[in-house]
Amino acid sequence: MRKIVVLSSSDKGYEYEIKVLKQFDDVEFIVSPARTEDEVIDAVRDAEVILFTATKMNERIINSLEKCRLIIRYGIGYDNVDLVAAGKRGIYVCNAPNYGVVDVAEHALSLIFAVAKKTLNMHDRAKSGAWGPGMPPFLRLRGKTIGFIGFGNIGKALCKMTNGLSMKALVYDPYLSADTVTACGAEKVELDDLLENSDFVSLHMPLNENTRHFIGREHFEKMKKTAIFINTSRGPIVNETELIEALEQNVIAGVGLDVFEDETKPLDPRLTSSPNAVLTPHVAWNTDVAVTAIHEEVGDNIVRYLRGERPNSVVNKL
Ligand SMILES: NC(=O)c1ccc[n+]([C@@H]2O[C@H](COP(=O)([O-])OP(=O)(O)OC[C@H]3O[C@@H](n4cnc5c(N)ncnc54)[C@H](O)[C@@H]3O)[C@@H](O)[C@H]2O)c1
Repeated sequence: MRKIVVLSSSDKGYEYEIKVLKQFDDVEFIVSPARTEDEVIDAVRDAEVILFTATKMNERIINSLEKCRLIIRYGIGYDNVDLVAAGKRGIYVCNAPNYGVVDVAEHALSLIFAVAKKTLNMHDRAKSGAWGPGMPPFLRLRGKTIGFIGFGNIGKALCKMTNGLSMKALVYDPYLSADTVTACGAEKVELDDLLENSDFVSLHMPLNENTRHFIGREHFEKMKKTAIFINTSRGPIVNETELIEALEQNVIAGVGLDVFEDETKPLDPRLTSSPNAVLTPHVAWNTDVAVTAIHEEVGDNIVRYLRGERPNSVVNKL
């Protein structure tokens, strides 16, 4: 039997994969709750296909694989898998690049609105029985400038939305041509230009060895004092201590964050108590449509592979 192992604490939600895999007589679909490195090694040793979300697929796990040809992450980011180790063993690594693009863009927009319109502060105020804003005016988005750092699928989807709000868009993404950026109704600029001229700075690049702590104190200092920083990509791209200091010292005016440097422990109280921070616990992908779409995207990709075709969205250049 060809073994497909999904590393997951719950066996719920895999109906689509099970349905499409029924066409193959020699395929076994197993859900494993393995958590520790040793448990994972035991669970996937003889798997041909491994599906995972949060497991750290490190070199030791990858080197223990005896039959694996394909690893697919249920998600867009793939910073928790050792691409080099997988590549050396000829294992395809794939992500699911499409399922949640609109959803993450909408979530980023919701953070922009919440910080700019002080939604949570006003919610608390209304609940306390107070009337009126009790603070300086909120921000009108029309006419403001948003700077995108990283302008792939999610950045472009958000840009369509902010264009619809008549916001101006600046883009820093060294891997895209000016023509591509212009075609999206935005302007390609250098990073410093973006930081100095944006009212909102939104991060949409992947986490990898080049982007860890890409954004820090020097970048916040270049932003307007009134700027709002939004991150729905990955926490470790930002030096979070320096972000918190910038917020505390009014170097920037506000933050909307869905992702954090360490998502295994409670957040820094300076962040959770800040009236200028809107925080969500890495949930931008979690919509009624995306939670189903991700299973379809991954399930269809396994079928491609089992039919002998090259899988979609291979991210390790095999
Ligand atoms: N919060 C969530 O729930 C959630 C869900 C899905 C994805 N994400 C994150 O969002 C990120 C972006 O997703 P996407 O679909 O837009 O990815 P994408 O691959 O389509 O786009 C990433 C863009 O970043 C650019 N880039 C790479 N390195 C850069 C650098 N050093 N400087 C500037 N730009 C750089 C690339 O050229 C590319 O255009 C993912 O990597 C993932 O980590 C978060």
